[in-house]
Amino acid sequence: MTASAADPRLKGRALKRVALSEETIAARVRELGREITASYPDGDLLVLGLLKGSFIFLADLVRQIERPLHVDFLVASSYGDATVSSGMVRLVYDPETDLAGKHILLVEDIVDSGRTLQRLMTLLNERNPRSIEICALLHKHIATELHHPTRFIGFDAPNEFLVGYGLDHAEDFRHVPYVASLQ
Ligand code: IMP
Ligand code: MG
Repeated sequence: MTASAADPRLKGRALKRVALSEETIAARVRELGREITASYPDGDLLVLGLLKGSFIFLADLVRQIERPLHVDFLVASSYGDATVSSGMVRLVYDPETDLAGKHILLVEDIVDSGRTLQRLMTLLNERNPRSIEICALLHKHIATELHHPTRFIGFDAPNEFLVGYGLDHAEDFRHVPYVASLQ
């Protein structure tokens, strides 16, 4: 299915292909919520969203996790307007919350090279969390730089540049409710 250029969200640009529909995403997010609920029987759970890409996924995901939890965010800047990784990661916002003794669930939109997450895992581990796991909506399975398994994965992603459901290209398309590949 092609995302129509007539969609008023798209600035007249056609997206190449709808990779994941709204319904497909919603069904998988419900399953992920159940998996996560079952995986954390006790202890404080802090769901840490990596901004900006995870904001829609995180909002949907936490409503499917049926246990007490707190939410905070991290801002790491890595890509600029390019569609390939620049290799640079910069922390722009650090969570206020103390991580010591808590289960940390780091929520990411997409794992590409894994560079961003590897850098963050190292940094967050130094704060003595009880556990730290990654939940990614999408995983390209080309990450050579991430030395930590991604515990929860929404979907295996094609090796294409994807936008929508929080993912951007030069800040466009984050509000598109489905995931599509860019022309
Ligand atoms: P990595 O450090 O190479 O794994 O890149 C991770 C970050 O790059 C993600 O959090 C996204 O913000 C961005 N990114 C990687 N691939 C894509 C894509 O296909 N579409 C949109 N953003 C992407
Ligand atoms: Mg991005």
